[in-house]
Amino acid sequence: MRVERLRLTDFRGYRELDLALPPGLIVFYGRNAQGKSNLLEAISLLATTRSFRTSSEREVIRWGAPGRFARVVGDIARSRDHLEIEVILAEGMEDGAATTPTSAPSATAPTASTFRKRVRVNGAPRRAIDLVGTAPVVVFAPTDLDLVTGGPSQRRHFLDLTLCQTRHSYCRALSQYQKVVAQRGALLKRIREGLETPQSLAYWDDQLVRLALPIMRERADFLERASAVAARVYAALASDDAGDDAGDDAGAEEQTETQAPLRLEYRPSYQEYQAAAAGSGAEADSTQQAARMRAALEAVRRREIAQGVNVLGPHRDDLGFLAGGVDLAIYGSRGQQRTVALALKLAELEYIEQETGEQPALLLDDVLSELDPQRREDLLAAVRGLDQTLVTTTDLAIAPTNALRQATIFEVRAGAVKPVTQKPPMPEVIPEAGG
Ligand SMILES: Nc1ncnc2c1ncn2[C@@H]1O[C@H](COP(=O)(O)OP(=O)(O)OP(=O)(O)O)[C@@H](O)[C@H]1O
Ligand SMILES: [Mg+2]
Repeated sequence: MRVERLRLTDFRGYRELDLALPPGLIVFYGRNAQGKSNLLEAISLLATTRSFRTSSEREVIRWGAPGRFARVVGDIARSRDHLEIEVILAEGMEDGAATTPTSAPSATAPTASTFRKRVRVNGAPRRAIDLVGTAPVVVFAPTDLDLVTGGPSQRRHFLDLTLCQTRHSYCRALSQYQKVVAQRGALLKRIREGLETPQSLAYWDDQLVRLALPIMRERADFLERASAVAARVYAALASDDAGDDAGDDAGAEEQTETQAPLRLEYRPSYQEYQAAAAGSGAEADSTQQAARMRAALEAVRRREIAQGVNVLGPHRDDLGFLAGGVDLAIYGSRGQQRTVALALKLAELEYIEQETGEQPALLLDDVLSELDPQRREDLLAAVRGLDQTLVTTTDLAIAPTNALRQATIFEVRAGAVKPVTQKPPMPEVIPEAGG
């Protein structure tokens, strides 16, 4: 999919913006704090109704916005149709209040209950959760470079965002699952305090198992399929890491362990999941799988009650990155870890396209400066054929010249976005690494 037109009202620093966007590679450049990332954030909101930069979405409402709401409207061209998606984030005490002008931004933060999100597709209201997947995006921001070494929640978030954009059923199961985990967690604490009996867990065990199994199955399937794509992309991106001396015939044999093909490994907290799922697939086996997981819950019952938390289930899953049996989170070089993160994002893009028939728009926020010149070039070469890639950078000179030649460049300055008609000064040819 691609965004043909983006309209913003009181979104971050933008009072009003109406921007036509071409297909292909788009570069937003400008100095710091001019509103480049805000543009990508707005597009991610159209895709997921969430910001990739903040969990507190009321932040996006422009300070002093008279209506105390922010509006993002995107004209979206998809493979088979066109859509208009509108997302409004508003704070106000009651319906209608969101459009009541107020003279100044409220100094006291309103409570969460007064914040609302409204979604419309072609004018018709939609639930936020049902919008996800309509206009998919893959976001790559500097924090994503820590995907390999960061905490497991970051990796789970990656899995969830990918799968939610691919399948509604996953998103719905996940949302219900999260509620079950919260309720069950509260119950475990009450049992610990002697306010409830362990028998009261039976219902919540059933709910947890019912929702956990399909979530784990989707995650395992995705990782199995994405593994091959990620390996291919990783090999292409990391090709230079072996060094120039690997070019001759003998050198090819002398790959170190960490240069072996990349493999993604699912690490469910319910470790018997793989065994329970192996060889099944028939409907009859799902009751057996459920029985096994319920037994696993029984086995950790004491610990769960003592700790007052849910210890088993997808909310504690993780994934690993292996090359030749070596864990890259532990033994990989910093450059390799970043390359894995990049490969993972491109694999995500391909997976979503294969599964849904819709190619996500790729949003690269500020990542060029984080990569070495060779990887920059490799990345922009890898995205050349995509429907739409939107890149932000403070420094045009670091973008590879041949990529820039085919790009549409906008300068972002103090919330104004202007196409750059005159070609900016081109950088010299990027020096070859080691040359
Ligand atoms: N709710 C808001 N209302 C008004 N302005 C805001 C709001 N939220 C953020 N801003 C402003 O937006 C600007 C940041 O925009 P953005 O993050 O898009 O910058 P950028 O061009 O990506 O900068 P950098 O190159 O540093 O990443 C800041 O000046 C900030 O003060
Ligand atoms: Mg930025």
